[in-house]
Amino acid sequence: MATAPATLDSLLLDAFPSIRCAERALSPRVRYPVYSGEFWTAQQRQMDPLHYVLSYRGSFKPELPAFFIRRYSRPGDVVFDPFAGRGTTVLQAVLDGRRGWGNDANPMFERVCRAKVCPATVEEVEAFLDEVDWDREAPEAEGLDLGMFYHERTLRELLALRHHVRATSSPTARFVELLALSRLHGHSSGFFSVYSFPQISVPREAQRRINARRNQVPEYRDVASRIVRKARQALRGCDPVALRRAGARCMLTTGDARDLVDVPTSSVHLIVTSPPFLDKVDYLLDNWLEMWFLGIDLGPQSEAIVQTPDLERWMEFMAGSLVEMRRVLRHGGTCVVEVGDVNHNHRDINLDELIADLAMDAGFRVEAVLVQVQSFTKLAHCFRVENNRKGTNTNRCVVLRK
Ligand SMILES: C[S@@+](CC[C@H](N)C(=O)[O-])C[C@H]1O[C@@H](n2cnc3c(N)ncnc32)[C@H](O)[C@@H]1O
Repeated sequence: MATAPATLDSLLLDAFPSIRCAERALSPRVRYPVYSGEFWTAQQRQMDPLHYVLSYRGSFKPELPAFFIRRYSRPGDVVFDPFAGRGTTVLQAVLDGRRGWGNDANPMFERVCRAKVCPATVEEVEAFLDEVDWDREAPEAEGLDLGMFYHERTLRELLALRHHVRATSSPTARFVELLALSRLHGHSSGFFSVYSFPQISVPREAQRRINARRNQVPEYRDVASRIVRKARQALRGCDPVALRRAGARCMLTTGDARDLVDVPTSSVHLIVTSPPFLDKVDYLLDNWLEMWFLGIDLGPQSEAIVQTPDLERWMEFMAGSLVEMRRVLRHGGTCVVEVGDVNHNHRDINLDELIADLAMDAGFRVEAVLVQVQSFTKLAHCFRVENNRKGTNTNRCVVLRK
């Protein structure tokens, strides 16, 4: 006798006996389960080291896409993220043998993500660094006010490297560029800068205050050796040649999630994504040093990066994005949208309820909401992230079906 197919409910309850389940009613006719618990572990940095090369405020932990990719897709499937950020979903998809596709309004995504999925070997990195003219005169140093971060000699080396990576279009150049980005600012001696914040570029004035408070001045930090050390760490346990063969099949685009012109209709098996949470993160200000190093000046294009405090405008934006996500998804495909709870105008708002509502209007079926609850992270304390109030670090994942 054939056995009935397992439901999401029975699968989850079997695998995670301690989770709690409640039912939420959107209307008397529409109900869906809300599961809360710890679906993936809170341990720090246990996934592939490449994920942590350039994570930032706003990235989700790689355990999140891994959880959904392994449950809702098969090897060879297309896994897509329309708000790809630093490419966590795309990289995890490739590592799990899927085809990773990604899009973001910020062109920084394409540069960073391509380098993550197409890394160079340590030997290639060393050979590339040998070609840099470290003593090059840098006319662009004129008027460049970065002395609060870097020693003069470090800055000269940084400019020499920047010049060389920008003049070279090879995958090795992109990977070295990524490693350099990840060393621009941080709190240990492995970074190029004097003590600073690792995950956001603080404004010049804030860095001057940090220096005064800590009574510090930037000391010389050699650029090349720090890049090689980072390459060794990032590639631990990885076969870069095999990864870049798989990574070469990634489709990475820069554009608005409401108009994914390069993504064909019904082409995607699974979406795992996390849109901006209103204006809780300023993606441009947080990354100004990285954008400078990459030579990206968005100008009017920055309008496409949506970070609005206006709830109505955010909902309109998400409504348009959900319609587009449904268009690119195959019939029967799954779409997971991760959001946090935010405090807006002194009111707690569960963005997942709003997403579920908008998704139904877009023609999706709401299958469930998974609420990952885990204890505070050090970073959450540090930045007082809005969704980490009340002693929890919550990811709310709305699971939708086309
Ligand atoms: C919460 S972050 C995504 C982080 C990502 N999950 C990761 O782990 O790196 C949201 C992203 O949405 C992007 N974004 C903002 N407005 C957008 C738009 N209109 N279309 C596409 N991407 C947009 C931002 O640049 C940012 O990278």
